[in-house]
Amino acid sequence: MRIAVFASGNGSNFQVLAEQFPNNVKLVFSDHRDAFVLQRAEALEVAQKSFELKEFANKAAYETKLVELLQDYEINLVVLAGYMKIIGPTFLAGFKGQIINIHPSLLPDFAGSAHAIEESHAANRGLGVTVHFVDEGVDTGKIIAQVSVEFAENLAIYEKRVHEAEYELYPRVIKAFLAGEIADGCSVREKNC
Ligand code: GRF
Repeated sequence: MRIAVFASGNGSNFQVLAEQFPNNVKLVFSDHRDAFVLQRAEALEVAQKSFELKEFANKAAYETKLVELLQDYEINLVVLAGYMKIIGPTFLAGFKGQIINIHPSLLPDFAGSAHAIEESHAANRGLGVTVHFVDEGVDTGKIIAQVSVEFAENLAIYEKRVHEAEYELYPRVIKAFLAGEIADGCSVREKNC
Protein backbone atom coordinates (compact mmCIF):
# COMPACT_ATOMS: atom_id res chain seq x y z
CA MET A 1 0.00 0.00 0.00
CA ARG A 2 1.34 3.40 -1.04
CA ILE A 3 0.22 6.24 1.20
CA ALA A 4 0.17 10.01 0.70
CA VAL A 5 -0.30 12.21 3.76
CA PHE A 6 -1.93 15.62 3.32
CA ALA A 7 -1.26 18.35 5.87
CA SER A 8 -1.65 22.12 5.85
CA GLY A 9 0.59 23.08 8.75
CA ASN A 10 2.44 21.48 11.62
CA GLY A 11 2.39 17.83 10.57
CA SER A 12 2.91 16.02 13.88
CA ASN A 13 0.51 13.27 12.76
CA PHE A 14 2.41 12.97 9.49
CA GLN A 15 5.62 12.53 11.46
CA VAL A 16 4.18 9.71 13.56
CA LEU A 17 2.89 7.91 10.46
CA ALA A 18 6.09 8.39 8.45
CA GLU A 19 8.17 7.04 11.33
CA GLN A 20 5.94 4.04 11.90
CA PHE A 21 5.30 3.19 8.24
CA PRO A 22 8.46 4.19 6.38
CA ASN A 23 7.83 1.66 3.62
CA ASN A 24 4.32 2.89 2.95
CA VAL A 25 4.35 6.67 3.35
CA LYS A 26 5.61 7.68 -0.07
CA LEU A 27 4.54 11.30 -0.34
CA VAL A 28 3.49 14.31 1.66
CA PHE A 29 1.42 17.07 0.12
CA SER A 30 0.77 20.50 1.57
CA ASP A 31 -1.50 23.21 0.22
CA HIS A 32 0.84 25.75 1.87
CA ARG A 33 4.31 26.11 0.45
CA ASP A 34 5.70 27.26 3.80
CA ALA A 35 4.08 24.57 5.97
CA PHE A 36 6.28 23.06 8.68
CA VAL A 37 5.21 19.58 7.61
CA LEU A 38 7.43 19.97 4.52
CA GLN A 39 10.48 20.43 6.75
CA ARG A 40 9.51 17.33 8.69
CA ALA A 41 9.24 15.42 5.40
CA GLU A 42 12.63 16.59 4.27
CA ALA A 43 14.23 15.45 7.54
CA LEU A 44 12.56 12.05 7.14
CA GLU A 45 13.45 11.86 3.44
CA VAL A 46 9.85 11.54 2.33
CA ALA A 47 9.01 13.03 -1.09
CA GLN A 48 7.19 16.30 -0.70
CA LYS A 49 5.03 18.34 -3.02
CA SER A 50 3.26 21.62 -2.48
CA PHE A 51 1.11 23.95 -4.51
CA GLU A 52 -1.63 26.36 -3.52
CA LEU A 53 -5.24 26.72 -4.60
CA LYS A 54 -4.69 30.39 -5.45
CA GLU A 55 -2.18 29.33 -8.13
CA PHE A 56 -5.01 27.73 -10.14
CA ALA A 57 -8.00 29.10 -12.05
CA ASN A 58 -10.41 27.18 -9.80
CA LYS A 59 -10.67 24.31 -7.35
CA ALA A 60 -11.38 21.74 -10.07
CA ALA A 61 -8.08 22.64 -11.78
CA TYR A 62 -6.25 22.42 -8.43
CA GLU A 63 -7.75 19.03 -7.70
CA THR A 64 -7.07 17.74 -11.21
CA LYS A 65 -3.39 18.46 -10.57
CA LEU A 66 -3.64 16.68 -7.20
CA VAL A 67 -5.17 13.59 -8.78
CA GLU A 68 -2.39 13.55 -11.40
CA LEU A 69 0.21 13.86 -8.66
CA LEU A 70 -1.27 10.95 -6.72
CA GLN A 71 -1.45 8.84 -9.87
CA ASP A 72 2.20 9.65 -10.64
CA TYR A 73 3.17 8.30 -7.22
CA GLU A 74 0.80 5.32 -7.58
CA ILE A 75 -0.91 6.26 -4.31
CA ASN A 76 -3.77 4.06 -3.17
CA LEU A 77 -4.52 5.58 0.25
CA VAL A 78 -4.75 9.30 0.98
CA VAL A 79 -4.43 10.11 4.66
CA LEU A 80 -5.61 13.59 5.64
CA ALA A 81 -3.92 14.84 8.81
CA GLY A 82 -4.63 18.49 9.44
CA TYR A 83 -5.43 19.22 5.78
CA MET A 84 -7.62 22.29 6.07
CA LYS A 85 -9.44 22.09 2.74
CA ILE A 86 -12.74 20.49 1.89
CA ILE A 87 -12.31 17.66 -0.59
CA GLY A 88 -14.15 18.61 -3.77
CA PRO A 89 -15.86 16.44 -6.39
CA THR A 90 -12.84 16.23 -8.71
CA PHE A 91 -10.58 14.77 -6.03
CA LEU A 92 -13.31 12.56 -4.67
CA ALA A 93 -14.13 11.13 -8.09
CA GLY A 94 -10.49 10.08 -8.48
CA PHE A 95 -10.07 8.58 -5.00
CA LYS A 96 -13.49 7.73 -3.54
CA GLY A 97 -13.18 5.16 -0.76
CA GLN A 98 -9.43 5.75 -0.60
CA ILE A 99 -9.35 8.99 1.41
CA ILE A 100 -9.45 9.00 5.21
CA ASN A 101 -9.38 11.84 7.73
CA ILE A 102 -8.74 12.31 11.44
CA HIS A 103 -11.01 14.68 13.35
CA PRO A 104 -10.44 15.71 16.97
CA SER A 105 -13.93 15.02 18.34
CA LEU A 106 -16.28 12.09 18.64
CA LEU A 107 -18.17 12.54 15.37
CA PRO A 108 -20.90 13.42 14.60
CA ASP A 109 -20.33 15.94 17.41
CA PHE A 110 -18.51 19.02 16.11
CA ALA A 111 -18.40 17.83 12.51
CA GLY A 112 -17.08 20.54 10.23
CA SER A 113 -15.51 22.52 13.06
CA ALA A 114 -11.97 23.81 12.56
CA HIS A 115 -11.84 24.25 16.36
CA ALA A 116 -13.28 20.93 17.45
CA ILE A 117 -10.86 20.53 20.37
CA GLU A 118 -11.78 23.88 21.92
CA GLU A 119 -15.50 23.48 21.19
CA SER A 120 -15.83 19.96 22.55
CA HIS A 121 -13.82 20.99 25.61
CA ALA A 122 -16.04 24.03 26.23
CA ALA A 123 -19.18 21.89 25.87
CA ASN A 124 -17.69 18.90 27.74
CA ARG A 125 -19.23 16.74 25.02
CA GLY A 126 -17.91 14.77 22.05
CA LEU A 127 -14.52 14.44 23.74
CA GLY A 128 -12.32 12.22 21.62
CA VAL A 129 -10.91 11.48 18.21
CA THR A 130 -12.43 9.93 15.07
CA VAL A 131 -10.94 8.46 11.91
CA HIS A 132 -13.41 8.31 9.04
CA PHE A 133 -13.69 7.91 5.29
CA VAL A 134 -14.11 11.13 3.36
CA ASP A 135 -17.31 11.59 1.40
CA GLU A 136 -19.09 14.55 -0.20
CA GLY A 137 -19.90 16.12 3.17
CA VAL A 138 -17.60 17.62 5.79
CA ASP A 139 -16.65 15.04 8.44
CA THR A 140 -19.73 12.98 7.48
CA GLY A 141 -18.12 9.90 5.94
CA LYS A 142 -18.31 6.42 7.39
CA ILE A 143 -16.58 6.12 10.75
CA ILE A 144 -13.65 3.69 10.84
CA ALA A 145 -12.58 4.04 14.48
CA GLN A 146 -13.15 6.33 17.45
CA VAL A 147 -11.57 6.77 20.83
CA SER A 148 -12.76 8.81 23.81
CA VAL A 149 -10.43 11.24 25.52
CA GLU A 150 -10.72 12.06 29.21
CA PHE A 151 -11.78 15.62 30.00
CA ALA A 152 -9.38 17.92 31.83
CA GLU A 153 -10.37 21.38 33.10
CA ASN A 154 -7.17 22.77 31.69
CA LEU A 155 -7.53 23.09 27.91
CA ALA A 156 -3.81 22.61 27.25
CA ILE A 157 -3.83 19.35 29.17
CA TYR A 158 -6.95 18.17 27.31
CA GLU A 159 -5.41 19.13 23.97
CA LYS A 160 -2.27 17.16 24.77
CA ARG A 161 -4.41 14.12 25.53
CA VAL A 162 -6.23 14.53 22.21
CA HIS A 163 -2.97 14.57 20.28
CA GLU A 164 -1.65 11.56 22.17
CA ALA A 165 -4.86 9.74 21.27
CA GLU A 166 -4.38 10.71 17.61
CA TYR A 167 -0.82 9.39 17.58
CA GLU A 168 -2.11 6.05 18.83
CA LEU A 169 -5.35 5.83 16.78
CA TYR A 170 -4.13 6.80 13.31
CA PRO A 171 -1.33 4.19 13.23
CA ARG A 172 -3.78 1.58 14.53
CA VAL A 173 -6.11 2.32 11.62
CA ILE A 174 -3.27 2.27 9.09
CA LYS A 175 -2.17 -1.11 10.45
CA ALA A 176 -5.70 -2.39 9.91
CA PHE A 177 -5.59 -1.13 6.30
CA LEU A 178 -2.26 -2.86 5.75
CA ALA A 179 -3.65 -6.07 7.23
CA GLY A 180 -6.56 -5.92 4.77
CA GLU A 181 -9.08 -5.49 7.57
CA ILE A 182 -10.55 -2.35 6.05
CA ALA A 183 -11.72 -2.29 2.46
CA ASP A 184 -12.95 0.68 0.45
CA GLY A 185 -15.78 2.29 2.34
CA CYS A 186 -15.91 -0.38 5.06
CA SER A 187 -15.26 0.26 8.73
CA VAL A 188 -13.45 -1.84 11.28
CA ARG A 189 -16.73 -2.44 13.07
CA GLU A 190 -18.53 -3.66 9.95
CA LYS A 191 -16.03 -5.99 8.40
CA ASN A 192 -18.62 -7.66 6.19
CA CYS A 193 -19.95 -4.61 4.42
C1 GRF B 1 -5.03 17.33 14.45
O1 GRF B 1 -5.55 17.66 15.70
C2 GRF B 1 -6.07 16.69 13.58
O2 GRF B 1 -7.02 15.96 14.31
C3 GRF B 1 -6.73 17.89 12.97
O3 GRF B 1 -5.68 18.79 12.72
C4 GRF B 1 -4.63 18.55 13.66
C5 GRF B 1 -3.37 18.38 12.88
O4 GRF B 1 -2.23 18.41 13.70
N1 GRF B 1 -7.48 17.50 11.79
P1 GRF B 1 -0.80 18.11 13.07
O5 GRF B 1 -0.62 19.05 11.87
O6 GRF B 1 -0.77 16.68 12.66
O7 GRF B 1 0.19 18.42 14.15
